[in-house]
Amino acid sequence: MNTPAKPLYYGDYLKLSSLLNAQFPESGRYGREAHDEMLFIITHQTYELWFKQILHELLSVLELFSAVPLDEKKLHVIVRRLDRIIRIQQVINQQIGILETMTPLDFLDFRNFLVPASGFQSRQFREIELRLGLSHHLKNFGFGRFTEEDRRHLERVAKQPSLFERVDAWLARTPFLESEDFSFWHSYRVAVANMLAGDADIIGNNPLLSEPEKAQQLAELEATRQSFACLFDPQLYEQYRRQGNFQLSYKATLAALFIQLYRDEPLLQLPFRALTRLMDLDEQLTHWRSSHALMAQRMLGTKIGTGGSSGHDYLRSTVSGKRLFADLFNLSTYLIPRSQLPALPDSLQRNLGFQQERH
Ligand code: HEM
Repeated sequence: MNTPAKPLYYGDYLKLSSLLNAQFPESGRYGREAHDEMLFIITHQTYELWFKQILHELLSVLELFSAVPLDEKKLHVIVRRLDRIIRIQQVINQQIGILETMTPLDFLDFRNFLVPASGFQSRQFREIELRLGLSHHLKNFGFGRFTEEDRRHLERVAKQPSLFERVDAWLARTPFLESEDFSFWHSYRVAVANMLAGDADIIGNNPLLSEPEKAQQLAELEATRQSFACLFDPQLYEQYRRQGNFQLSYKATLAALFIQLYRDEPLLQLPFRALTRLMDLDEQLTHWRSSHALMAQRMLGTKIGTGGSSGHDYLRSTVSGKRLFADLFNLSTYLIPRSQLPALPDSLQRNLGFQQERH
């Protein structure tokens, strides 16, 4: 190893002279320096640094996910990197609390100097969304608020496979749902029918319910039965999907359900952990959207944002409107008690594993 001529110096290594000289409050330029603008700038800059790290991890996760077959070693690294992203998300979600030590009046001291700049124009945030698979959002807003360079960059990113697509493809090619001596779906269907018949009995025999209440609960049970029906009928599933009830493909949903149901099988534990991390990531992003929307309401009330949106109302709409893996959460609808799970035949138990992808 070559020894550098000059010993490395902490501040040089971290480029601190650039980093710590990059805070220029706009209010100062107008001769009305607002004390809290420094906090506002540093909070945003810290976010952007963490966004950079999230993208660094996300790009490697996408690269690993592109491998076919996806062996256990790679899946293990994916789970660890997703874990790191989630830890970062937890930290940046907490940062909102620091910014909320600024009062709405303090914010008003410099808010108008910021127009039309806004978090809307965070290229890294949009890139994270696109890489995750939330590109549909761009159809609503276009790239008009970005510089030409940022717009072109995001357009390039939008054409590349997203995490959502990679996960869907990985799940869809898992082969263990059928084997020579076992059709999981047939057995599962019987188990579901038994479970629902049991629930109907419980409602029918409940002395505390009036007849109209029983009728109401039975109607709800029927709706659940219909929702289960689409798991056994690809065409019905597609119909539901077109109506926005599912995002994952049919095969991916079945595989994810199988992993959830048989998570205790040694070879499904790691895929189950991966699915859990994807849900955690989605949940943390949703927490951020919700806390950020509340912070915007606290600061602005019903005023519009500096970027020109309706402000809190717009942000609120993204909380439920931009979920990535809601399907994985909703799979709980289709879980049946362990005691009613069809037993896996020995042959499948022996073979159960992602090594089968090679066939
Ligand atoms: C006083 C604090 C803040 C207020 C009042 C606020 C307000 C808003 C508003 C109203 C919007 C909607 C777009 C617009 O019309 O401007 C927005 C978008 C956004 N803000 Fe903030 N924000 C604050 C702090 C932050 C911080 C610290 C970040 C961290 C990076 C951030 C990131 C974003 C992002 C990424 C968007 C786009 C969200 C989307 O389109 O889904 N904001 N903000």
